[in-house]
Amino acid sequence: MAPANHSVFLCFSIFLIILLNSRPGIAQTRPVYACDTSSNPGLKNFSFCDTSLDVKTRVDDLVSRLTLPEKIGWLVNAAKGVSRLGIPNYEWWSEALHGVSYVGPGTKFSGLVPGATSFPQVILTAATFNESLFETIGKVVSTEARAMYNVGLAGLTFWSPNVNIFRDPRWGRGQETPGEDPLLSGKYGAAYVRGLQQTDDGDKDKLKVAACCKHYTAYDVDNWKGIQRYTFNALVTQQDLDDTFQPPFKSCVIDGNVASVMCSYNQVNGKPTCGDPDLLSGVIRGQWKLNGYIVTDCDSLNEMFNSQHYTKTAEETAALAMNSGLDLNCGDFLSKNAQSAVNKGLLNETVINKAVSNNFATMMRLGFFDGDPSKQLYGNLGPKDVCTAANQELAREVARQGIVLLKNAKGSLPLSPTAIKSLAVIGPNANVSHTMLGNYEGSPCKYTTPLQGLTASVATVYTPGCADVSCGTAQVDAAKKVAATADAVVLIMGSDQSIERESLDRVDITLPGQQKLLISEVANVSKGPVILVIMSGGGMDIQFAKDDPKISSILWVGFPGEAGGAAIADVVFGYYNPSGRLPMTWYPQSYADKVNMTDMNMRPDPATGYPGRTYRFYKGPTVFSFGDGLSYTDFSHILVEAPKMVSLALEDGHVCRSSSSACKSIDVVEESCTNLAFDVHMRVKNVGGMSGGHTVFLFSSPPQVHNAPQKHLLGFQKVNLASQEEGMVRFSVDVCKDLSLVDENGNKKVALGEHILHVGDLKHSLDLRI
Ligand SMILES: *[C@@H]1O[C@H](CO)[C@@H](O)[C@H](O)[C@H]1NC(C)=O
Ligand SMILES: *[C@@H]1O[C@H](CO)[C@@H](O)[C@H](O)[C@H]1NC(C)=O
Ligand SMILES: *[C@@H]1O[C@H](CO)[C@@H](O)[C@H](O)[C@H]1NC(C)=O
Ligand SMILES: *[C@@H]1O[C@H](CO)[C@@H](O)[C@H](O)[C@H]1NC(C)=O
Ligand SMILES: *[C@@H]1O[C@H](CO)[C@@H](O)[C@H](O)[C@H]1NC(C)=O
Ligand SMILES: *[C@@H]1O[C@H](CO)[C@@H](O)[C@H](O)[C@H]1NC(C)=O
Repeated sequence: MAPANHSVFLCFSIFLIILLNSRPGIAQTRPVYACDTSSNPGLKNFSFCDTSLDVKTRVDDLVSRLTLPEKIGWLVNAAKGVSRLGIPNYEWWSEALHGVSYVGPGTKFSGLVPGATSFPQVILTAATFNESLFETIGKVVSTEARAMYNVGLAGLTFWSPNVNIFRDPRWGRGQETPGEDPLLSGKYGAAYVRGLQQTDDGDKDKLKVAACCKHYTAYDVDNWKGIQRYTFNALVTQQDLDDTFQPPFKSCVIDGNVASVMCSYNQVNGKPTCGDPDLLSGVIRGQWKLNGYIVTDCDSLNEMFNSQHYTKTAEETAALAMNSGLDLNCGDFLSKNAQSAVNKGLLNETVINKAVSNNFATMMRLGFFDGDPSKQLYGNLGPKDVCTAANQELAREVARQGIVLLKNAKGSLPLSPTAIKSLAVIGPNANVSHTMLGNYEGSPCKYTTPLQGLTASVATVYTPGCADVSCGTAQVDAAKKVAATADAVVLIMGSDQSIERESLDRVDITLPGQQKLLISEVANVSKGPVILVIMSGGGMDIQFAKDDPKISSILWVGFPGEAGGAAIADVVFGYYNPSGRLPMTWYPQSYADKVNMTDMNMRPDPATGYPGRTYRFYKGPTVFSFGDGLSYTDFSHILVEAPKMVSLALEDGHVCRSSSSACKSIDVVEESCTNLAFDVHMRVKNVGGMSGGHTVFLFSSPPQVHNAPQKHLLGFQKVNLASQEEGMVRFSVDVCKDLSLVDENGNKKVALGEHILHVGDLKHSLDLRI
């Protein structure tokens, strides 16, 4: 969203808001809502305002009272009020990717609420591999969002999270996502959505705020060498679609019960996603049974018509999208073209009724049609509930749980805050504040910069080393001077939004400019430990630092949010034992040189030398791998329980019974599949001297049929263990759900034969037989 060439639309809405706010006396401090029966008792006569009725009855009543132009007013994000029915204007577009955000015209900060808790950018939160934490963050964000709604500063519909797969390290928006693994992305999406949406009264029909999983689907090219997301046609195989790109969305809808899905800008196999009836009506609403609305990216329909030239007329685009199952348009394409599409007979009112009904049903579930919000469930929330001490502490906790320790020579980290008398703090990201937030940010409560965080424990000497992260000319001599006399050196390097962001994919995945030179030169003159901290969204080729014996430790801190500096210090000084793991592969630059970002194939192609993507398919060299991450302590695993063989019973006459040797796999739909599950139990022991958190990953390598992944994640669990403490980790594996794969045609299969289960260095062979 917020693309550059939509500035006309954006400026227009911002201008309007300023106008409204600058009129004395009407600066918003009250929420917008419909059915204000206390000031307009006549509204009591309308069934749609009657909270004792069910949502469908109320929606049907409302829609039956609206004229066609009034309905069309509710097909766009800047929805037009219907004053004769007591319905105000409503702005659908708010964002809350990692905290309530000012991106999107539905939310703004003011003197009343100057900031909201700014959690780490999602890629670092994913690195915590702490599923309950994902939901906890969502819950805090929705509380702050409701509090801001109550004083007229936010909407109720938030277009977050972003669950696209981080397929290529160059993607500028990879930072917004939970990484490259479909299972992790699905679990993150569903948990964050639950945190945002679930009300505390347990009423499943109600929504605290409405979340939105985006961008559906196979969207992960923004602007690479001039190839733009607005016109990019993603060529995706059915197999990759079904086992990589779709699973996070499916999990959002089915496991998270998300209230909305956003279709993307790009085409998939020649069809724009927002105009594809199979993807919208067929999959989202038909197969997954979305309870909510489908919205365009801002403004996908305009791109479909004006950039992709997909239809001859604007009315045809409007009709195609609506007839495909679209409900809401971010932008004004439908307010401009829906009526004439109806007039031309391309679009009928039944379809529009269905769309606005989905939109209104969502607003009903949010309580928008229940009258004065101050009398409702979250009516007591207000500015006092935003940026509370507990919420800000959670932001710091998420950052420290996410930070990944990638290298640690003996005796390097943690630094002793009493032994270190002087610490050199060097680098263009050492004294940054806004950079720590990443994109889709809001105004934070406050900042703790890395420099402030470190200076709270020891005396520091700071020099930036480069003017900015681009680091055109490194200030090597100044940095060396500071480093040479210090007991230890912390270099805080990496990127910011000028390097990787929405509408800007990278070409190089090395550190920008002369950062490498600065690091190597500084390390060479240092007499104590040298700690390299990479602040970035995507992975970096820092092989040189991994190999340099003078660089004793490496930390990746993502974009760590408002409390990032405090969390970095917590890890550096050992107040917190790092437990984060990489949610994406870190590739060497040679990968970026060789592979087209636009090649959507996940699977390698031996014929062309194409190496494939992510830990599931790519076998080439990596700088760091998915799941990498060290601790200040050590953990051991002992397998306690896992079957050696699992048998599938097949009914009489099944082809695989007569000639089982020819059978490589069986269909998951078959009855033999139901309720076939087993447990894997593991004892995990902290065998080191410091308490800490540990993520246990259960991977499986299936038999190599149907282009199966070389390995894939079945589950992960995180445990906290004191020094010498033992814990039990249990996975329940459903054979057909967890061990299955998708074949070339998108059918779910269970491969027969040897599946190798891996946990850490442990390997366990499991034979699946008939
Ligand atoms: C509401 O209904 C009552 C009773 O049917 C009627 O007397 C009143 O005029 C109605 N009010 C409005 C504003 O329609
Ligand atoms: C309206 O359009 C839809 C989609 O084209 C079609 O299935 C439906 O039959 C139409 N309904 C009416 C009443 O014309
Ligand atoms: C850190 O940055 C802030 C804001 O730009 C600036 O005011 C401050 O002087 C900087 N600190 C140092 C030690 O340079
Ligand atoms: C490291 O410093 C030594 C002198 O102490 C110098 O001879 C050498 O060239 C330096 N190496 C690098 C890579 O700068
Ligand atoms: C990369 O894409 C360009 C442009 O589409 C094409 O000419 C080139 O052959 C591709 N290279 C590889 C290695 O696939
Ligand atoms: C997950 O996060 C929660 C909330 O911060 C924390 O209490 C819990 O200890 C974490 N779990 C693990 C295993 O680290």
